[in-house]
Amino acid sequence: MRILGFESSCDETGVALVEVSDNNNIPRLISEALYSQIQMHKEYGGVVPELASRDHIRRVIPLTQHVLDQAQLHLNDIDAIAYTQGPGLAGALLVGAGFATSLAFALNKPLIKVHHLEGHLLSPFLSKDPPEFPFVALLVSGGHTQLIKVHNVGDYHLLGETIDDAAGEAFDKTAKLLGLPYPGGPELGKLAEHGDPSAYDLPRPMLYSKDLNFSFSGLKTAVFTQKKKLEVDGVDMSEQQIADFSASIQMAIVDVLVKKSLNALKQTGLNRLVVAGGVGANKELRRQLNEACSRRQIRVHYPEFSLCTDNGAMIALAAGMRIKAGVQVPEYDYSFAIRPRWSLELQ
Ligand code: KG4
Ligand code: ZN
Repeated sequence: MRILGFESSCDETGVALVEVSDNNNIPRLISEALYSQIQMHKEYGGVVPELASRDHIRRVIPLTQHVLDQAQLHLNDIDAIAYTQGPGLAGALLVGAGFATSLAFALNKPLIKVHHLEGHLLSPFLSKDPPEFPFVALLVSGGHTQLIKVHNVGDYHLLGETIDDAAGEAFDKTAKLLGLPYPGGPELGKLAEHGDPSAYDLPRPMLYSKDLNFSFSGLKTAVFTQKKKLEVDGVDMSEQQIADFSASIQMAIVDVLVKKSLNALKQTGLNRLVVAGGVGANKELRRQLNEACSRRQIRVHYPEFSLCTDNGAMIALAAGMRIKAGVQVPEYDYSFAIRPRWSLELQ
């Protein structure tokens, strides 16, 4: 069975084709195409929802054609269509939902509606070192920071989450305060490589709280006030100061993510961790998690770097894994409703 998947929940248009076969529980990625709108949003310092929706409309057909051409297949060779139903930006989601549903209706093929975060947390199954169930997932993206106990496909138990900003949001907002371009996370990560992580003393909120929740919003205030102190007499920060600030911010975020992940593993008694979402591409996070986990005989799995941020492959994959696990039956129902806010547990 070949599934064509669409992702359009934020500022990336992703289309991908996977094949589900009888002898493999993990669908095989046949081809994929991605268009990132980052350049367009950069000018505004963040995602402009209306521009995002319009651009998804422009990209979705050429990307679909590209995926089919790459696979040397035609629309008639597709057996099912999947799309991100939520969570995400309403207008952006509507483009993917509208296009995928129309295509399924025209081809008389079934539809599978996918939760964006399920796509992220299953994305390491497309890596060279796929995990096995059960595991603890650390889901760190621009909109979410969650620790989830994953028993099996479709069986998710939320252990803790951020009570304010997400980890990616903390990277992006503090990077903006340092004058770095959008999206700040990757930029800040690069600069941090040349900085001193102990140069600035920044808070690690809820590090020792008994629960598995996070809080990152205080970081913005701390960066803002310390930066103000440096800029007396209108003197801008030096390149080295910006690098030191980047390294200190990164360390504050990574410290909390690592500590809480270890707590979640201890609490659940599991010895496997899966990291997913955009912030999962952060090299310092990977380095510290690898080090902490290898000392405790815990296996850590990551998506390939290219599949950390939003993409169509993870949506087609999640649809395939849901069908294979029998938790979802493809529907011939072409009415559609997007779900901009949608809990992963309540699917
Ligand atoms: O998963 P994603 O593409 O989108 C959401 O579903 O939100 O994650 C995007 C987030 C952004 O906040 C971006 O700054 C962050 O992931 N990010 C990073 C890195 N690469 C992406 N943060 C820190 N270090 C990175 N290397
Ligand atoms: Zn995402």
